[in-house]
Amino acid sequence: MAENIETLLKTSTVYHPTDQTLDQAYIKDYEAAYNASIADPETFWADVAKELEWFSPWDKVLEWNYPWAKWFLGGTCNISYNCLDRHVNSWRKNKVAVIWVGETGEERIFTYAELARQVNRCANALKSLGLNTGDRVTIYLPKIPEQIVAMLACARIGLIHSVVYSGFSAPALESRIKDAEARLIITADYGYDRGKPINLKTVVDQAVANCPTIETSIVVRREKPGIALTDRELDWEEWLAGHSTQCQAEPLDSETPLYFLYTSGTTGKPKGVVHVHGGYMVGTYITTKYVFDLKDEDVYFCVADPGWVTGHSYIVYGPLLNGATILTAEGKPDYPDPGRWWHLIEKYGVSIFYTTPTAIRLLMKYGEDWPGRYDLSTLRVLGSVGEPINPEAWEWFHRVTGGDKPIMDTWWQTETGAILVTPLPCVPLKPGSATRPFLGIEADVVDKAGNSIGTGGGFAVIKKPWPSMMRTIHNDPERYLGYWNNIPGCYTAGDVCHKDEDGYFWFMGRADDVVKVAGNRIGTAEVESALVSHESVVEAAVIGKPHQTAGEMIKAFVILKQGERDTPDLITALKTHVQTELGKIAVPREIEVVTALPKTRSGKIMRRVLKAKELGQDPGDISTLEE
Ligand code: PRX
Repeated sequence: MAENIETLLKTSTVYHPTDQTLDQAYIKDYEAAYNASIADPETFWADVAKELEWFSPWDKVLEWNYPWAKWFLGGTCNISYNCLDRHVNSWRKNKVAVIWVGETGEERIFTYAELARQVNRCANALKSLGLNTGDRVTIYLPKIPEQIVAMLACARIGLIHSVVYSGFSAPALESRIKDAEARLIITADYGYDRGKPINLKTVVDQAVANCPTIETSIVVRREKPGIALTDRELDWEEWLAGHSTQCQAEPLDSETPLYFLYTSGTTGKPKGVVHVHGGYMVGTYITTKYVFDLKDEDVYFCVADPGWVTGHSYIVYGPLLNGATILTAEGKPDYPDPGRWWHLIEKYGVSIFYTTPTAIRLLMKYGEDWPGRYDLSTLRVLGSVGEPINPEAWEWFHRVTGGDKPIMDTWWQTETGAILVTPLPCVPLKPGSATRPFLGIEADVVDKAGNSIGTGGGFAVIKKPWPSMMRTIHNDPERYLGYWNNIPGCYTAGDVCHKDEDGYFWFMGRADDVVKVAGNRIGTAEVESALVSHESVVEAAVIGKPHQTAGEMIKAFVILKQGERDTPDLITALKTHVQTELGKIAVPREIEVVTALPKTRSGKIMRRVLKAKELGQDPGDISTLEE
């Protein structure tokens, strides 16, 4: 998208809201609500926090010791209590909380009361293992309800969960377990990929063999007969059996860590982003409610995987805090056929549908016939997340869903915890723009020195702390400081952004060495280290390159060891090696063998120059280039 921002701005259509049924209070006077929230953010956030239940009130809303923030100081709460008990103690007790549909067609439905019973049983089982507040639990599960149950159970008793996406390979899982020093791992025998069972347990065995902190593994057995388990491995059902379905949620200080979630940065080592109970609860609660105009009668379908932050914030925590009915489905959007999601929308009467640009572009390829076969009239609000959405995909999504549903292009990050720049269903939309900052969020586009650019291109920053912001990077506070030291006085998101005359934000992609492949965040340095760990490779450089469906794809340039030949077999072997080291999502689509890489005089690879050359663009300033 970066190349054609001028054309984009000139040709952009404005869609005005048509839905008269939107009923959140802020919608009546959006400008006034935003201005008030910015004039006094502490009052705004405290008012939001009061909509949730606290075991004891906070003494102070915010302590801001740049760049360290604490929110709702002295208050005690528990996010799991607010996701479950708050509803179980109300008329929502028998309301459906989660509808889960498996890849192979199974369906499981949990009311709030049933979900609470499952979570309580799991929390008691966790206690029986002698785990204490602050201990870490790695959750490496496919997209099955046990993932949600395990997360909420950890939260309930003050354990910190570290969910690892089940597509990551053994070394990637191992490094995350080690960094978190997890005592327990919860996993499954199999996940499924297009109906084909994927053996997860062998991945775990390989990873855990090198992780002495892991004392026990819990295994959800999906296939019959159940796979064999050792003494240190327990079957999920047997582990839960006999435990009480009652378990009081632990009153926790609002700043108690809730989870670590590992995400890619510019070095080879993933960062363990730390989120806490109080502020994260407030941020995910209000954004889910306002951005999607969430009402009790809605059926909310978010296609993410809880292995990523979107799943944490907008499948599990945000919607459950609101007492919503959530639909979650295992599997790909085009398996068994490209009607998969449209069918689910019709079958369950989905009214809010939150998806990704990559998925939309994939479905576009199959044509309008597929959505045309289904009754999508229940849809009310749509959402997009994870990468810039190109106007063509936006228009297609808008058209095939009836032409009158607002699309919320939500911009945020693992680090921000919750949506920060987004439309609300009441604001005029411009396809391709995430529009404006959410209430209480002071975002801007600035130059390198931190000066606001007014209109034009620059770096996306957030100028004030917000409740759901990450508190630190586990084991690496220096890296946390990096976000706030980059551009003076503000949080630098690492995104290039354009601000137009209406103050609308147009996110253009990453400013750093992070690539967004199908919305997944991949550090080029991670792929490079995977490549150089192969015996035939001496050096590697990795760039992101535009891709029609995935938004970006990975291209790698490698220098081979003397005597190694550039053959198709070797290229395949390198791809397999990256898959083994990191996982399928990080495999370069293209690998080119080269004899030299552009470097600065100090020896740093100039990926920017490689990228410009690859795209046939001007490489810009190359005065520091060595050769
Ligand atoms: O580059 C931005 C892009 O995704 C990055 C954050 O990635 P991650 O932490 O994996 O979180 C993904 C889910 C929130 C951002 O720095 N990004 C996310 N949403 C958008 C986006 N880029 C453009 N438009 C969006 N709506």
